[in-house]
Amino acid sequence: MENQDKSTTLTISENKTGAGLDIGTAFLVGARQKSKDKEILLKKVRCAFVELGLESLGILKMKNIPFIKKEDSVLIIGEEAIKIPRAFFTRNDNLDFLELQVRRPLSDGIISPREADAISVLEVIIKQILGQPLVPNEKVYFSVPAMPIDNVLVNIEYHTETIINLLKSVGYDGAPINEAYAIVHSEGEDFGYSCMAISWGAGLTNVGMANEIWEIDSFKFSVSRGGDYIDKGVSDSLRIPITRVILEKEGDRKKEISRLDLTNPRNEIQVALKYFYKSYINYVLDLIHAKFFTLKTTVPLPDSIPIICSGGSALPKGFIELVKEGVFGKRSRLPFAVSDVILAKSPLTAAAKGLRIKLEMDNA
Ligand SMILES: Nc1ncnc2c1ncn2[C@@H]1O[C@H](COP(=O)(O)OP(=O)(O)O)[C@@H](O)[C@H]1O
Ligand SMILES: [Mg+2]
Repeated sequence: MENQDKSTTLTISENKTGAGLDIGTAFLVGARQKSKDKEILLKKVRCAFVELGLESLGILKMKNIPFIKKEDSVLIIGEEAIKIPRAFFTRNDNLDFLELQVRRPLSDGIISPREADAISVLEVIIKQILGQPLVPNEKVYFSVPAMPIDNVLVNIEYHTETIINLLKSVGYDGAPINEAYAIVHSEGEDFGYSCMAISWGAGLTNVGMANEIWEIDSFKFSVSRGGDYIDKGVSDSLRIPITRVILEKEGDRKKEISRLDLTNPRNEIQVALKYFYKSYINYVLDLIHAKFFTLKTTVPLPDSIPIICSGGSALPKGFIELVKEGVFGKRSRLPFAVSDVILAKSPLTAAAKGLRIKLEMDNA
C-alpha cells in the first residue's frame, strides 16, 4: 500500500523513525513508514529551480509562491520552477515560456559541479521532503548511482560524501544504498529477490542484480545515458527546444502517464523520440552484455533472470515492448536467459520505497 502526500512533509509523529530518500537528477523522493500498519508514505519533489530578478518579489508574494531570496535574485524551487513562468506569461501567446532556463542541482546523477547553488537548493528540497528529524541523528538510507561504465570522470564517492554531510547538517545520519538494489527490495518479492533491476532515469541508468536478496556487488554499474540523452537527441535533430520535447514525452505530469505511445508514434517529434528510445535501450542492453562477460565465471546466478524496469524513462507506453524486442528479438542482445521483462508498479517511486523497506529489514 502506498500513498503520495504532496502537500506536507513526511514528519508525522505516528511514523516510524528512519526514512528512505531517492536522490535523482529529475526528482527527489522521500519515504516513511507508518507505525500502525505497513503503509509507506511517499513525497516527490522535482529537482529543479529557476532564478528570477528581485522585481518578481511582488507577484510571488501575491500568488503565495514559496521562494528563497538571495542578494540580488530569488530562487523558485521544485514543481513551481516549471509552473512559474507559465503563471507569469500566460497572456502572451507568442512568448515561449519554456525558454526561461530551468536549472538543476544534479546533472548526470551527481551533484552538479557546474552549479553554484546546488547544495543550498538540495538542502531546501530535503527539508521540504523529510522535515525535522523525528529523533536526533535519524537514519536515512539514500540512493546512490553505481560508477558509470562509460564515463570514468564521474566521481560518485565525492557526491556520496557531500550528501552525507548535507544530511548531517540538517540532523540526519545518512547511509548510501545502490539505487538498483533499492528497486530489488521494493519490486523483487515475486521473484524471491533474484532478479536484475534497471532504473531508467534522467541523467543515468542504473543496473544491478541480486541473488536471493544478496546484492551481486560485482554486477552493479550505471550507464551515462537516460531521459536527458533522449531529450537532447530529439531537440538537436529537429532543432526544437528541449522543453518542447519533454512536454511531448511526459504529457500529463499529474497523472504520471506518458502521452507518448512508442508503438504508435503520431507526429514528427514522437517518431524521433521512438528512434532515440530504441538507441538508448539497445545501448544499455549492449553494455549489460559487455559487463556480464567480465564476471561470468565467478558469480552464482539464477538460471533464468527476470528484469524489472523502473525509473521515469520507463513510463511511456510500449517501453517494455522495446526492451523485450532487444532481449527476446531475432538478434537477442543478452548472453544469458531472461525469464521476463516487467515494469515496476510505480516507476517514479519504487527506489524510495525500496530504501525504506531495506531500512526496516536491517533494523529487524
Ligand atoms: N510521464 C512521463 N512520461 C515519460 N517520461 C517521463 C514521465 N515522467 C518523467 N519522465 C522522464 O523520466 C526521467 C526522470 O525519471 P527518474 O527516474 O525520476 O530519474 P532520476 O532518478 O534520474 O531523477 C526524465 O527524463 C523525465 O523526462
Ligand atoms: Mg532515479
